[in-house]
Amino acid sequence: MTILVTGGAGYIGSHCVRQLIEAGQKVCVIDNLYRGHREAVPAEASFFQIDLLETERLTEVMKSQRIEKVIHFAALAYVGESVTEPLPYYMNNTAGTVSLLRAMRNSRVSQIVFSSSCATYGIPDQIPVTEESPQSPINPYGWSKLFIEQILNDCSHSYPNFGFIGLRYFNVAGCSHDGALGEDHDPETHLIPNCLRTALGQQSHMTVLGNDYPTDDGTCIRDYVHVEDICSAHLLALNALNPQSSRYYNIGLGQGFSVLDVVKTSERVTGHEIPVEFKPRRPGDPPVLSASNKRISEELGWSPKYTSLEEIIQTAWDWFRTHPEGYRTETAS
Ligand code: UFG
Repeated sequence: MTILVTGGAGYIGSHCVRQLIEAGQKVCVIDNLYRGHREAVPAEASFFQIDLLETERLTEVMKSQRIEKVIHFAALAYVGESVTEPLPYYMNNTAGTVSLLRAMRNSRVSQIVFSSSCATYGIPDQIPVTEESPQSPINPYGWSKLFIEQILNDCSHSYPNFGFIGLRYFNVAGCSHDGALGEDHDPETHLIPNCLRTALGQQSHMTVLGNDYPTDDGTCIRDYVHVEDICSAHLLALNALNPQSSRYYNIGLGQGFSVLDVVKTSERVTGHEIPVEFKPRRPGDPPVLSASNKRISEELGWSPKYTSLEEIIQTAWDWFRTHPEGYRTETAS
């Protein structure tokens, strides 16, 4: 059986493709390479440069590659950008997923694991957040993902063979244990990569976006989970998929760290000072997010390998210091 991985050239997708191949699966990757990297896709996977909105080409690939199940990562994923430019988020994420689901129906593929997000919860009324917490996003990125959740719910009600598992990621971080795959975003807006780029001297200081939140040190709190643990959850979800299994799971560690905790831990890991400058809040940022992972632990047997922020940042540092220009570093050397 072949697994179709959308967005398999991206940060999380590429780590997952590798785990699937190591587990003996046949993998076919599609990616439009808008923000993904062809170099991140292992040679063992077949690759097609296709956009999610190209329903007919997607259908052809699903038929010719004999796809049995889909793991759907491809998405635009910057909260701040989604506030200033919402339409590409609805087009690529929401409409793109409708196109993918239509291609799946055309080619009789009926099982999908979908990357959803804690951004669908908005500002939660309880911490840790459970899957039953109300969903009320505060930015277009979160809405673009919540609309997809509704579409998946509708498909599972209407199409008898259709089955999905939606994984609501909290803050994905870190890089592969051997430093071979990593995080390479342009522009880079995420906290840990920006701390490490400051440690490398690529920027003079870290900008902390808001220090007047209702938290102990005034900065936002997030639940950081290692990218390889996110991928192991996908492998478990893939095995659990069936038309009766359709549901959502949080993936996080249930522990929260403030922006300043992350800066200090990054200083310890790298041995470099990371100067900070405070700027106003970024629109669309909830003050505190952390996950209850009880459901995925109990029902799918998920247990994270990386449980300390220090270890997670260490893997990211191993990548950033050996790949200061991301995947371009290897091409240049
Ligand atoms: N931050 C800074 N300075 C920076 C970058 C980030 O202070 O240079 C702050 C942000 O304001 C936020 C925290 O650090 O408070 C974490 O920001 P990230 O951009 O690293 O991640 P987000 O919390 O925005 O992550 C969100 C959702 C995820 C979603 C992800 C997509 O929580 O579910 O965006 O990129 F997948």
